[in-house]
Amino acid sequence: MTTATLVFDPFSEDFFNGPYETYRRMREEAPVYYNAQYDFYALTRHEDVAAAYKDFETFSSARGVDLSMVRKGEVTEHGSIIVMDPPNHRHMRSLLNKVFTPRAIQSQQPMVSALIDRYLSAVNPDGFDMVQDFSALFPVEVITTMQGVPAEDSQRVRLWIDDLLHRESGEVEMSEAGLKSAIDMAIYYYKLVNARRAELGDDLLSKLITSEIERADGAMAPLSTIEITEFATLLGGAGAETVTKLLGNAVVVFGRNPDQWQRLLDDRGKIPFAVEELLRYEAPAQYNVRCSLREVTLHGVTIPAGKPVFLVGGSANRDPAAWTDPDTFDIDRDRTEAQNLGLGYGIHSCLGAALARMESAIALEKMLDFMPRFEVDWSGCRRVNMQNVAGWSNVPVRVLR
Ligand code: HEM
Repeated sequence: MTTATLVFDPFSEDFFNGPYETYRRMREEAPVYYNAQYDFYALTRHEDVAAAYKDFETFSSARGVDLSMVRKGEVTEHGSIIVMDPPNHRHMRSLLNKVFTPRAIQSQQPMVSALIDRYLSAVNPDGFDMVQDFSALFPVEVITTMQGVPAEDSQRVRLWIDDLLHRESGEVEMSEAGLKSAIDMAIYYYKLVNARRAELGDDLLSKLITSEIERADGAMAPLSTIEITEFATLLGGAGAETVTKLLGNAVVVFGRNPDQWQRLLDDRGKIPFAVEELLRYEAPAQYNVRCSLREVTLHGVTIPAGKPVFLVGGSANRDPAAWTDPDTFDIDRDRTEAQNLGLGYGIHSCLGAALARMESAIALEKMLDFMPRFEVDWSGCRRVNMQNVAGWSNVPVRVLR
């Protein structure tokens, strides 16, 4: 019997369709995997991925967090926090931590709840698409409402982001359409930030306009319009696409594990644990890419300096060395066994974690009321083809009465 060659291609159907078997082989056969086609390395074991997330001095974010950016090897002089190393990252994060306070997030609860009610009450229980009719629509509106984007523009923001993350099989770079959407979105936010400068409100953009950040020379200075624009566009991708994916995944995973849905129906107190287990079992953000700043030798393999390194949290979260029965979806599992990497780890760990958890928990609570029993039309389920994020674009559902 011959064993198939081990190939991890994050731009392939295997990846888009859920690469858990590939991850298993990588952890066992090639814990420091090298892809010669694209010239990148990948870490998949929990211990290695968690350590690399923490070691920002070796695994830098400043050259980007996707393959297309990192392989260009340029330090991105951008205002986008996710592509910064310390000290710039530390300065930006401490500014944003003042804006994303637990109280500020908590105060969004009525808005989030009302948006979820509005979208869920509009679907037809006898046949609707969980993603297209519900989970794609409200998370972007949560972010854009917080930002102070006019309500009529929020779905445009979502379509722009969908375009710029989309990749056909074999496509590493953004398509023409993706590039056009990225530019249109940047121009849109740039104009909006400038307009907001003239008329400040109680929204996120206004707070960023009036905030000051520590610069390299130690002096405090306001953020530029470009810096605010870059952060605003990042939030759309980081905050909206991911919650959309988590909830699409939720319906598929609970559809396959109805006993777990029943446990939630029996005890709503378990909803926060279900959110954590979804983040572990089917991570909406499967990986983040880093650039090695120095040569590293791990498990007998030397990663040269200057190479893209995939930190595959989606695999680490299924590592049997970290979790008991990792391929079993169990909302009652012992969450203290290992660090869940679903929201990242280390200095770049998710800034919006509290908001993500709140949105997901409220949505699950309302879904339990709306669809205590449901049926998924498996033949109609479709995956997204995107970089970094994984999940479903279509999940047709019928509520059973
Ligand atoms: C289920 C939903 C979410 C998931 C799975 C998720 C996942 C992640 C992950 C894995 C990272 C680490 C990136 C890295 O290390 O390079 C991250 C960072 C980030 N997330 Fe989230 N996220 C979610 C929701 C949100 C929301 C709602 C927001 C918006 C408020 C948000 C904003 C951010 C930002 C700004 C960063 C960059 C933080 C930094 O670089 O310091 N995320 N997220």
